[in-house]
Amino acid sequence: MKTLIATLLISLFPAFAFASSGAHLEKVEINLDNKASLQRGAKLFVNYCLSCHAASYMRYSRMAKDIGLTDAQVVENMIFPADFSKEKNGKPKKAGQLMTVAMSAEDGKAYFGTAVPDLSVVARSRGADWIYTYLKSFYIDESRPWGVNNTTFPNVGMPHVLWELEGLKKAVKTKHTDEHGHETETVTYETVVPGKMSAAEYDSAVTDLVNFLEYMGEPAKLVRYTMGVYVLGFLFLLFVVSYAMKKEFWKDVH
Ligand code: HEC
Repeated sequence: MKTLIATLLISLFPAFAFASSGAHLEKVEINLDNKASLQRGAKLFVNYCLSCHAASYMRYSRMAKDIGLTDAQVVENMIFPADFSKEKNGKPKKAGQLMTVAMSAEDGKAYFGTAVPDLSVVARSRGADWIYTYLKSFYIDESRPWGVNNTTFPNVGMPHVLWELEGLKKAVKTKHTDEHGHETETVTYETVVPGKMSAAEYDSAVTDLVNFLEYMGEPAKLVRYTMGVYVLGFLFLLFVVSYAMKKEFWKDVH
């Protein structure tokens, strides 16, 4: 019993360690069953992210099937915005191709000062809440190359690619000192240039996008949910058969 309690306690430590590091993150509601949200997220992803970030573990056809689109819809509406190089080279677009980008890693380094990370599994490394907060914490900072900075990822090399939708805002930082002398900083934002979306619409768009990234980080999750039901059904049947067999074997012994 003691070992059990100790094991349980130890298994909680990473959670504590994680919780105490890092800035305050906003919570995002992920719902992988919401196909409409995944489709909206995929559309935002190919239009606004895939020009720099690849998702090279993912094929368009796989994504289409998982989020409830046809191959034709994906080829027609999603490959073009991102994969302009293939279009130019005259090669036909195929639903089976990987979600890669035209830009090479070296070019990425030259343009942004750092290699642009692949986003296939970013939701697993960073967590959904982190990405959600990150996409909402760009603010105007003229001292940065792209004129923006980010409170969640200070001095980030990425421009605020969703600024058209969200608008541009400035950060107002206030420092507080509590009775123990700990300093904390809170940040509030003030819109300077309004975007096409209201704050609520932007939140919901970013939620869709993060939902999609979460799905991409582990596409098998969708399959696993269904598979789990079959596996349990199979085990139940196996139990019934084994039990009948046991009865048959032992009936002469008793
Ligand atoms: C113009 C190119 C460009 C576009 C478009 C772009 N990004 Fe980025 N992104 C970058 C660069 C460069 C970095 C690396 C920043 C750094 O390390 O300083 C980055 C970093 C990130 C990170 C942090 C990754 C990590 O774990 O460090 C996330 C998450 C991210 N981008 C998400 C997105 C999403 C979502 C979109 C679409 C809405 C997007 N990006 C569009 C250039 C881009």
